[in-house]
Amino acid sequence: MSPASPPAHTTRRDDVPRCRRLDVGDDGAVLPTDELDPVLCQEAMRQALASPRFDGDAGQPRGMERVVAGAATVAKVQRRVHERLDVLLEFDELRRVADVPAPALLDHGTVDKDGVSVWWTVLERARGEHGDRGAHATELLPSRQRALARVLRRWHTYGDAALGPRLDDPGMAGLFFGEIRARAPGAAKQLAAELDAACRGTEMAAVHGDAAVGHNVLFQGADVTAVLDPGAVRVAPPMLCLGWAVAVDLGLGGSVDAAGAGYAASTADRELLHRLLPLLVTRRLADMRRLGDTSAERRLGAWLRSRRPELLDLAVAGSGSGGDGAEVGTF
Ligand SMILES: Nc1ncnc2c1ncn2[C@@H]1O[C@H](COP(=O)(O)OP(=O)(O)O)[C@@H](O)[C@H]1O
Ligand SMILES: [Mg+2]
Repeated sequence: MSPASPPAHTTRRDDVPRCRRLDVGDDGAVLPTDELDPVLCQEAMRQALASPRFDGDAGQPRGMERVVAGAATVAKVQRRVHERLDVLLEFDELRRVADVPAPALLDHGTVDKDGVSVWWTVLERARGEHGDRGAHATELLPSRQRALARVLRRWHTYGDAALGPRLDDPGMAGLFFGEIRARAPGAAKQLAAELDAACRGTEMAAVHGDAAVGHNVLFQGADVTAVLDPGAVRVAPPMLCLGWAVAVDLGLGGSVDAAGAGYAASTADRELLHRLLPLLVTRRLADMRRLGDTSAERRLGAWLRSRRPELLDLAVAGSGSGGDGAEVGTF
């Protein structure tokens, strides 16, 4: 399904932004990702719960929740410095223009103190289940991968690629491999350099940046009911967005082909996807190792071993477990 008429801002071919050199070594800026002051976050949550649009219990004493559910709405507050309200506002615009299933943004505001601003939002509460949970998750995975890829394609086609943080902005490539960078800066730099080589000069689009069947997406059966929680990068090569979805879902037992088919990927798309995937799988593998998800670790490790075995060392180093005797051979 596509919108009845294309949005006015639909990018003309000659306006499509091309990916410039990435800030591989964080030469331009290191983008801070620190956690915000918990007192301000709690105050932001208090304001969200007090919004006339929130339909849940506003009165309870609260801890440090980031998301509080009402009946038909949820309240969500900012947690880290780099999460931007303008990205959320654009996300809501995209929901309307690109017909992407996503919760409507019903109300929002900020708490401001001493030059620090913390946002809060009230969103429509989406129905559906997480794609990696539930009795039928495994058998539904291929059709859910196809369905999500179709949604991402609409996103990339109709989103306004002139707005929001770009992958080639200062500090963004470093942020992309942020968790690896914290544990193994050399590994992160090598991955960012390969990312630069693959992406430079390619066409960019508005992307979600952090969606997969197993992450930030809700489903009813094989249908996407909501894409949640856009990532920090808003404009990037579309294959980075699809590739991240594939990397996450390979860890669940998914496939590249299901996502590629749902996206109706062109030959050029597939070529770029195959260059990017080993880098993205390396990042995901480092995450899964760090978090102790052994079945995802085994699947991603086997995938990488048969394609780019030399990247396994970077995943181990980037997981922070390289120095404790961990063996690459354990994948
Ligand atoms: N609008 C929403 N409707 C239904 N569930 C939501 C909604 N927003 C958040 N959630 C639930 O809260 C979880 C965390 O929210 P999310 O926006 O992904 O924030 P984060 O991952 O940064 O904590 C989601 O995975 C989902 O289960
Ligand atoms: Mg999330």
